[in-house]
This record gives sequence, structure tokens and C-alpha cells, in this order.
Amino acid sequence: MTEKQMIIDPGTLTNIAAQLFEAGGLRKEDAAVVAHDLVAANLRGLDSHGASRIPMYLERIKRKVVNPQPNITVQNVFPAVSLVDGDDGMGFLAGHRAMEEAVSLAEKNGIGLVGVRRSTHYGMAALYVKDAIKKGYLSFAYTNSSPALPVWGSRTAFLGASPFAAGVPGGKEEVPYVLDMAMTVIARGKIRLAATHGEPILPGLALDKDGAPTTDAAKAFEGVCLPFGGAKGSALAMLMDLLAGVLTGANYGGDVKSLYFDHSEPQNVGHLFIAIRPDLFVSKDEFDDRMDTFVKRAKALPKAQGFEEILIPGEPEEKTAAKRLDTGIPLTEEVIKTLQETGLEYGIDISSQLNEIALNS
Ligand SMILES: NC(=O)c1ccc[n+]([C@@H]2O[C@H](COP(=O)([O-])OP(=O)(O)OC[C@H]3O[C@@H](n4cnc5c(N)ncnc54)[C@H](O)[C@@H]3O)[C@@H](O)[C@H]2O)c1
Repeated sequence: MTEKQMIIDPGTLTNIAAQLFEAGGLRKEDAAVVAHDLVAANLRGLDSHGASRIPMYLERIKRKVVNPQPNITVQNVFPAVSLVDGDDGMGFLAGHRAMEEAVSLAEKNGIGLVGVRRSTHYGMAALYVKDAIKKGYLSFAYTNSSPALPVWGSRTAFLGASPFAAGVPGGKEEVPYVLDMAMTVIARGKIRLAATHGEPILPGLALDKDGAPTTDAAKAFEGVCLPFGGAKGSALAMLMDLLAGVLTGANYGGDVKSLYFDHSEPQNVGHLFIAIRPDLFVSKDEFDDRMDTFVKRAKALPKAQGFEEILIPGEPEEKTAAKRLDTGIPLTEEVIKTLQETGLEYGIDISSQLNEIALNS
């Protein structure tokens, strides 16, 4: 079943998102950041982490488990190490602030390590490593998240889908490396989207709440996602919680509250960011040349059957972004409807602002 979609201009969608977050109590400049980040996810094809999440974030603000106007603080604990307190605000804000600090520490010390606690869900992890890439730095971004997948051998959700992101700036001619991968076979948000649309999921992605394999997206959303790569994926998901949760002082070990189902208290999500100067061991010029050479060599390799092009991680999403910037962002009627309803709740007329370019079925 293909649901009806409306194509929305990215600028219009960003404006609508910013108005909604401002109406929800965010400062104007913070609302603009969150709106930009969500639309960036839509542009990169990650519709599960884009505008469709606005009503959920606003609900969490309304229920006072997200602080709309956080006082984010940074404490330097060692020359190359800082701790950021997100003050229960939107995770996007704490995430950008923390990566900014990590890069600033790396500038002075070669490497910067920043732990974050009292944060919340920070969306698409690529956002933060792209911040570092813009400044010419390599980086890693770890986060934990609410229980979605089991420790290997268990059938209970305990570890988060917690995406791992890593970024390496491109050289002078080639694309950067932007890895952003959840620990699940596919992101839990994609299962939620399939459930919203009443679509099935492929076998091998999830167990229902009784521990049985399922292709029913709604049952999978109530149950547990499976990690990619079996025990290895589970081990990496565990590492995300150890680094972002146990180490930073944030919630850990199954205590991060569900975004959708638990409004009892703030999530206290943890993140850990590492930024690295590109000129630690070779000059910046040499690093750039080596990156260009690496990417050129990788792309020139003989292709496997069924492949027209070899892509560097991050490239598939950037290609989608380039296309969607030009042609617009497809949103399902369901998502549009929830945005309109949310707008009405906050006294914002969204229907009149929607710049409809095309209607597909
Ligand atoms: N904040 C949270 O708690 C949370 C939780 C889960 C997921 N997420 C987000 O969900 C999003 C989706 O995650 P995912 O694991 O489904 O991503 P994915 O499986 O679509 O992609 C994973 C990585 O593989 C790369 N890749 C894919 N196809 C490729 C190809 N043909 N050639 C080269 N590289 C390729 C991508 O560029 C990406 O870096 C991410 O942005 C993630 O941050 C966030």
C-alpha cells in the first residue's frame, strides 16, 4: 500500500517546525536549531527522524519531561575533557553544544572528549559529526537511548537502538566519511513508521512482546528490535550504554525512559563526543591528500554484481538531500494531518502555509 504524499518545500517545513517549537516554549534561536535538525533528517531521507516527530517532542515539553529553555552548562574536568549538563532540554541543543566543546578542546589539546548528561533524544546522530567535519575535525558520537533491544541471549528490551556516528573530513576533492548507524538491524523509528502506516516489516528484524519473531510492525514496536550482527551488535549496543551512560553519570542499564510511552520523568540520556585534529600525525595538507587518495581508490574498485557505484558512508544520504533540496520533501498525509492538528492546538494555521508542489498517490 502506498500512502498519499504531499511534497513540501524544505524552507516551508523548517518555518512550520520552528513556529511550532517556539509556540511550545523554546527560545526562538533554539526552535530554529531543532527545526533545522529535523528537516535535515527529512532531507537526508530519514523521515522516521524528521518532522513526523514534532508532536511527540511537543508532548514531552507539555508534560514537563523536557525543559523548553535549558541552561546548558559546560564544566572542564581535565585539559582535554569536559562535562556538559543538558538541563533536560532538547537533546539537539546539548549535542551541538557538546561537539562544539569537543572541537574546541581538540584545537588546544589534539583531542577533545566531552561527556553529556541530563540530555534527551538527540535525533539523527550524523548531525553532530557533521558539525565537526565543517570545522575540519574527525569525530565520534556515542549516545544511549530507551530500551529497544535485548542483551544477547535475553528477550527483554534493555539496550537502546543508540546510533553510533563517526565523521572524517573529506580531502580537497572528495566526499567526507559520515557513518551514522543504529544498533538495530533497522532503526526502531522505521518500524514505528511502518506501524503507523499499517505496513509489515521484513522477517529477522524484531520479536513481539512474548519473544516470538514477527513481521507485524505494530507488534514489533511493542516488542523488541533485534541487533544487527547478532551477539556482535548486542555487544556494541552495550558499549554505547557503557560510554554514554555509565561513564557520564547519565541514566543507564535500562533506565532511559521511552520517548513515546513514559512521561514519568526526564530521560537523562547520555552522550559522549570525541573530536580529533586531522593534523596530529601528518600535516593537514598531507591528511587531505591521503583522504582524497583513499576515497578515489575505494571508488575505483571493481564493482560487485548489482552495484552501479561505490559510495562512501554518508553519501547515499547526501545524494538524497541534494535531490530533496531541489524537488522537496515528501510527507505522508498522516504526518501532515498530525502537524495540522498540533498547529491548531498551538494556534498556528499550518494548512495555509503548506506550499503544495505536487500530490502523488
Ligand atoms: N537518537 C537515537 O536514539 C536514535 C536511535 C535509533 C536511530 N537513530 C537514527 O536513525 C537513523 C537511521 O539509522 P540506520 O541504522 O537505519 O541507518 P542506515 O542503515 O540507513 O545506514 C547506516 C550507515 O550505512 C551507510 N550506508 C548505507 N548504505 C550504504 C551504501 N550503499 N554505501 C555506503 N554506505 C552506506 C549510511 O551512509 C550510514 O552511515 C540514523 O540517523 C540514526 O542516528 C537515532
